Order: sequence, then C-alpha cells, then structure tokens
Amino acid sequence: MSKLEITGGKRIRGIIDMHGAKNAVLPILAATILTKGVSVIHNCPKLKDVNVTVDILRFLGASVRREEHTLIIDSSGDLKSDIPENLMHELRSSIVFMGAILARCKKARISSPGGCELGPRPIDLHISSLRQLGVSVLETEDYLECDSKNSASGEIVLSFPSVGATENIMLFSCLMSGVTIIRNAAKEPEIVDLANFLNKMGARICGAGTDEIYIEGVETLNGTEYSIMPDRIATVTYLCCAAVTGGEIEIRRVNPNDLEACLECFIRCGCRIGIGKDRIFLRAPQRLKAIDFIETKPYPSFPTDAQSLFLAMLATADGKSIIRENIFKNRFNVAEALKEMGADITVSQQTALIRGKKRLKGANVSAPDLRGGAGLCIAALAANGVTQIDKVCYIDRGYEEIETYLQRLGAKVTRLD
Ligand code: UD1
Repeated sequence: MSKLEITGGKRIRGIIDMHGAKNAVLPILAATILTKGVSVIHNCPKLKDVNVTVDILRFLGASVRREEHTLIIDSSGDLKSDIPENLMHELRSSIVFMGAILARCKKARISSPGGCELGPRPIDLHISSLRQLGVSVLETEDYLECDSKNSASGEIVLSFPSVGATENIMLFSCLMSGVTIIRNAAKEPEIVDLANFLNKMGARICGAGTDEIYIEGVETLNGTEYSIMPDRIATVTYLCCAAVTGGEIEIRRVNPNDLEACLECFIRCGCRIGIGKDRIFLRAPQRLKAIDFIETKPYPSFPTDAQSLFLAMLATADGKSIIRENIFKNRFNVAEALKEMGADITVSQQTALIRGKKRLKGANVSAPDLRGGAGLCIAALAANGVTQIDKVCYIDRGYEEIETYLQRLGAKVTRLD
C-alpha cells in the first residue's frame, strides 16, 4: 500500500488547472445508463472512485472506453439490474445506481452499501422517497429488492436535503410519466451539474440549485456529450496548501461562485483572494489568523467536505478556532493524527477547539478517510521535518495524482510504493 512522504516548510507557489469533480462525475456516470445511446463525458478525473464506477457500468453490461479524461459509454445493449456486494461496498455512492437501474430496468437488486469510514451512512431517505413514488422496496439482511412496475410521479418532501437522495429521485423520475416535485432538495452545485447533464440528454428538469426541483418525465433520453464541472473541494484543498505555507496560488478552470462560503473563511484568516471568471488567486499572510467559529451545513453554507481541511489549516493559525460538524459524526477522525503532529485540538462531541501552534512537526500518520487524508497533507506541508502518510488509497479516491499537483506547486513530496 502506498504512502506519501512530505517534507514540510516549502512555500506553495504556482498555477494549477483543476480537475473534474468527483461528486459530480459519479451520479453523471450512473445517469448514462438511462439512454440506449452513447454518452461522451469529458473532464472525468482519474480517481479510484471513478474506476469503481466504471467497473459497475461494465458489470451492468455497458461498454466503457477511456481516452485520457474522456469516458465513452455505450449503454445500448441489455443491462443487468443487480450490483454485487463487492462493488457496492467499494463505493458508498454507488447507491445512486438504484434510481438509475430502476428507471432503466424497472427492477433493481443491490446490496446495502453499509457504513463507511465516516460512520453509519443511512439510506432511509433514498428508500422512503422511492416508496412514495410507488416503488416496492423489500429490505433483506443483505439486499434491497426493488420493483417499479407500479410507480407513479408524485411529490417528495425530504426531511433533510440529502445530496444522494435528491440525485436518486432525479435519476429515477426523469423517465416516468407526469411531474415529480422534490421539496427541500439538496442545492449543491453537483446537483445542478447532474440536472444539466440530464437535460442535455433530453430530460425536463427545472429548479436544480434551489430547494424545489421539478422533473417532468419524458419517454426516452438520448446519448450526449458533456463536460464535468470542476472539483470545488479539491480546489479548497490546494488553496489550504498555499494558505498554510504562507504561499500564493492561482487555480484555473474553477467556478468561484460555488466556493463563496470557503473563500469568505480564507479572507477571515487574513488571505487575499482575487477572483476571475474561472479562476481564483490566493495570497497568504505570514501567519494565518484563527477563525472564531465555523459550522458545516448543506450548500451554500460551509461544506462538511472542507471541514477536515480547515481543521488542519487552523492548527497553525494564530489564536483559537472552533469548528462545529453538523453533517457527519466521524469527520473529526483526523484530529488524532493531527495531534501526533503536534496540533492542539480538543474534540468534544460535534465540536473541535483548535489552539493554533506556530509550527507542527513531521510524524508517521495514517489517513483515516478521504478528506482527513488531504488534511494531513496540508498539515505536513506546514510541519517541521518529514511526514509519512499511510493509507493514501483514501486520498486517491478523490484527488487526481495529488503528489504531481503538489510537486508542480513546489512541495517536496514523493509517493512510496
Ligand atoms: C454527498 C457527498 C459527500 C458530502 C455529502 C454532504 C457524493 C458522492 N458525496 O454524500 O462528499 O460530504 O454529500 O454534502 O456526492 N442521511 C440520512 N438518510 C439518508 C441519506 C442521508 O440520514 O437516507 C444523512 C447522512 O447521514 C448525513 C446527511 O444526511 O448526516 C447528509 O448526507 P447526504 O447529503 O445524503 O450525503 P451523501 O449523498 O452520502
């Protein structure tokens, strides 16, 4: 299993182009089975999670070809309606295939995605929403057996704006007759990207990006060509890398409007931010200032995926910061590893108190999850000495060749296999 070795103390400086968004590409790849045509998806990041999604598409019977950052998916043949346990377990977000398979095959048999490194991730909202649209869902110990023969469009009111449940309902209902309305829908930019892709296939979806989404069913969808939106969380990650080392960075091919809550936090830390149509520039002060309080909430508020990144960054800021995590219970898992690097962090239930230290120290640590692993890279860049980060496989789920990007920005980092 590979490790990253990072020697801290180098200022991060330079220009990078952002890769496509992990959280947008996964549901869009699932959506490609809604057509019997060919989909050409550009700007697909080279990530472990994308590889697993491609394995699922191939298992279902689609043919998938990769040409660099473009995936060409032909779903014209007969498709299977089940996903085996091993593939479901490799990727929790494979649950979005439930809506897509049901729409295409009228039945689906998938194993329960189970928990993940962020703790138990329930799918009750996915199941209850599909049931409200008339899908029969039989839950056995290991499998969900779904049948949509008697389904009909309708109105769903989500008790929480779940990203995955919103995507599943969109995928399921765009091929159903009548209008389906999702109230209290998730508003994340990745939902808008999925709606744009589906509309380009011929779907009729409006309201994506607001809390009410209207989906007017159509009979068929066509194959199309589409380019995935830039990854807003990877963007924040590289901004943190520059900020924590007193550096400066320009990130191109991004959408600054998607990042307002995070950019505001960088400004509160004392960074200077410049914004162009599709680029962000950050110049860091010599030492970052603490932020008195940040809390994670659904978009457009501060995202839970950026929480571990800020936790790591604020560990070296001047003063005390408080972060409250409202979305995923286990998002503070990385705090222990940060403490091994000398950080002063006290976690009590869903709140972390961070007393900033001038310097952290290199250590041998292990990535607890994807964003926690990225947080450790941020801390390592700011630490005295060498840090070895184990379980890089988590980081590879969401960052395309992180060491290459960091090297391009002047960091001293190597991958040890
Ligand atoms: C997606 C993102 C993930 C991000 C999260 C929140 C992908 C692939 N992943 O995950 O990176 O951190 O949104 O922005 O896009 N919940 C329930 N019941 C459900 C579904 C969710 O209680 O049926 C709860 C979850 O436990 C969690 C909260 O709702 O506390 C948010 O989950 P959700 O928005 O569904 O996140 P994901 O779609 O899993």
